[in-house]
Amino acid sequence: MFTTVLAQRNKTQPGELPLDLFAAIESLKKELNAVILAHYYQEPDIQDIADFIGDSLQLAKAAEKTNADVIVFAGVHFMAETAKILNPDKLVLLPDLDAGCSLADSCPAEAFAAFKAAHPNHLVVSYINCSADIKAMSDIICTSSNAVKIVQQIPKEQPIIFAPDRNLGRYVMEQTGRDLVLWQGSCIVHETFSEKKIVQLKIAYPEAEAIAHPECESSVLRHASFIGSTAALLKYCQQSNAKEFIVATEPGIIHQMQKLAPDKHFIPAPPVNNCNCNECPFMRLNTLEKLYWAMKNRNPEITMSENIRLAALRPIQKMLEMSV
Ligand code: 13P
Ligand code: SF4
Repeated sequence: MFTTVLAQRNKTQPGELPLDLFAAIESLKKELNAVILAHYYQEPDIQDIADFIGDSLQLAKAAEKTNADVIVFAGVHFMAETAKILNPDKLVLLPDLDAGCSLADSCPAEAFAAFKAAHPNHLVVSYINCSADIKAMSDIICTSSNAVKIVQQIPKEQPIIFAPDRNLGRYVMEQTGRDLVLWQGSCIVHETFSEKKIVQLKIAYPEAEAIAHPECESSVLRHASFIGSTAALLKYCQQSNAKEFIVATEPGIIHQMQKLAPDKHFIPAPPVNNCNCNECPFMRLNTLEKLYWAMKNRNPEITMSENIRLAALRPIQKMLEMSV
């Protein structure tokens, strides 16, 4: 009943890659009348070839406005799915269909339907990091940049379920003073940051400001002088007088931070273990090569049933109306 994503699996890629991938992608862009939308967590080469780079809200708005025939989404599945929900007649390509999201996966549709049924009369506000099936069961979608603003617009007496991220939910509760019923989902990347190592970095770099994404745990957020979405973090470090920043979010964003504030120093917040687990393993599945093959083969494509698309469209439109 809830399985609606009928996207085709990646085809194997026979054939030679062109020597100049950037030029080949630019030429495919013209041939297909395509636009490349990329999230800040993508690898630098993808960010550099994208027509538009943004956070989840900016990308949803860009997808809503585009006149292109083809949207190449360099991000994760729920982001490309949102673009498809807004553009049923366009071809939406995702370079690697396995680019999912641990947060979206932490909220399976059937379990969420039961949770919703156990809380009658609650309005459902869902973070955009969820599947189309969850969106279809929601009243309003939000992103990390507008969650507080959206909850503040809901009448105080209205009880609310907030899904799927418990950390963002807790942050929204603190900022709004509202009591939300939280789904207990989380992001494996934002829960990996080590409070102890962040404190050690603050001692080693006493002039540095710590900045964090609201998907981080409260033990990390309490050391941050600014908390915001990826776009808000980028804007903050350009405007702040500080010259050094400890960045508690996926380090892909540091590519843009360095480009837009070249005289400043950005230190990625370290994970608990000695691993690269502060890099999103889903976002990083996309590569320039896969992006080229996706455009060349017009595949893998995002598709879904029309009834789920229409049900998921309603709360997304509500969000767009509430965040102008
Ligand atoms: P943004 O809303 O900042 O783009 O966050 C998306 C995301 O996946 C964070 O993990
Ligand atoms: Fe999902 Fe976390 Fe990756 Fe963002 S960083 S796409 S929330 S797994």
